[in-house]
Amino acid sequence: MLKLGIIGTNIITDQMLDAAKTTGQYQLTAVYSRTLTRAKEYGEPYGATAFYDSLEDFFDEGDFDVVYIASPNSKHYEQARLAIENDKFVILEKPAFVNPEEFSRIESLLAAHPKARLVEAARHIHTGLFHAGEDQLKKMDTIQGANITVMKYSSRYDKVLADEKPYPNIFTPEFAGGALMDLGVYAVYGAVTLFGVPDSVVYFPTMTKSGVDGMGTAILTYDQFAVTLNFGKTANSHLVSEIYGLKDTLVFDSIFDTTKVTYFDANQEPTELEAPYFENSMVDELNDFAALFNAPDDPEQVANYKRWQTLSREVNAVMYNLRESAELTFPADNNR
Ligand SMILES: NC(=O)c1ccc[n+]([C@@H]2O[C@H](COP(=O)([O-])OP(=O)(O)OC[C@H]3O[C@@H](n4cnc5c(N)ncnc54)[C@H](OP(=O)(O)O)[C@@H]3O)[C@@H](O)[C@H]2O)c1
Repeated sequence: MLKLGIIGTNIITDQMLDAAKTTGQYQLTAVYSRTLTRAKEYGEPYGATAFYDSLEDFFDEGDFDVVYIASPNSKHYEQARLAIENDKFVILEKPAFVNPEEFSRIESLLAAHPKARLVEAARHIHTGLFHAGEDQLKKMDTIQGANITVMKYSSRYDKVLADEKPYPNIFTPEFAGGALMDLGVYAVYGAVTLFGVPDSVVYFPTMTKSGVDGMGTAILTYDQFAVTLNFGKTANSHLVSEIYGLKDTLVFDSIFDTTKVTYFDANQEPTELEAPYFENSMVDELNDFAALFNAPDDPEQVANYKRWQTLSREVNAVMYNLRESAELTFPADNNR
């Protein structure tokens, strides 16, 4: 059983702890929160026994092997740094880091702490259905492009519209928020996993009055085709995500909450792909990560880790290049 510590006590941590229970591989022991009251209120119902409002004490004294970090994006770097310095296994929520500078510093730190591991919680690319889609894609002779959409209105945007300050973290540059960082990252992950690193990228954002991109369209150009990404937090989309072959098409009902993947052959005959499916889409990634943490030096796990790290680095670079193309900057970009 892996002992688990957590940073961040919002809804996504509930989902992670529910998934962790399903895997049967993690046991929550320690909770960090900015206040002790919150740490106890949140952690006790889940059976945690140690609570901290100091990150240093959490890492110095906390009895855990794995730390799950689900804090605002701009906090990831510092918290991950402390975790690695304490030789922990780290599950870091997406998007792992704000820019390539942060990413490369973390890679150097990981090299200096060979017992530590850091994985990015890109839950959607670990699911059975996503893998089934990947396998189907490999069988398609021609690829002519794709359209990937991840767009869901965020109730937190109500506060921006109502001018209620402080604006929610995810709608501010200070916390490295915005549509690209929050939902666009799923689309970018999908594209980079399925098609590799694009030759060039461009992003056309629609800005909010809180200073971040509320929604937007990105175009990723590859040698033979282009991939269009639509993502946003200020509107709702009902579009599926599609990959275009010649006469055939591969359709994900959603790239980030995939419940159905359908392959339409050259005669437009549909076949629904089959794969093991968990209602809680974090179960697969937590199983994958537990396998790594339980046997970090096993050759299969070493290969998995290398693949996830490479993907994470590539996604981080593409995200940064997209931001650069739209001249979107965060205060965290100046922490050099
Ligand atoms: N994989 C997914 O499906 C998924 C879904 C949602 C979010 N996420 C990711 O999870 C992370 C957290 O997202 P969220 O929406 O939960 O963020 P959030 O509500 O803004 O903050 C998450 C937690 O961080 C702490 N926090 C809040 N404001 C802070 C501040 N100013 N300084 C330091 N800590 C602060 C709070 O915990 P305490 O009060 O206990 O300190 C809070 O519960 C993000 O990286 C996001 O991208 C992933």
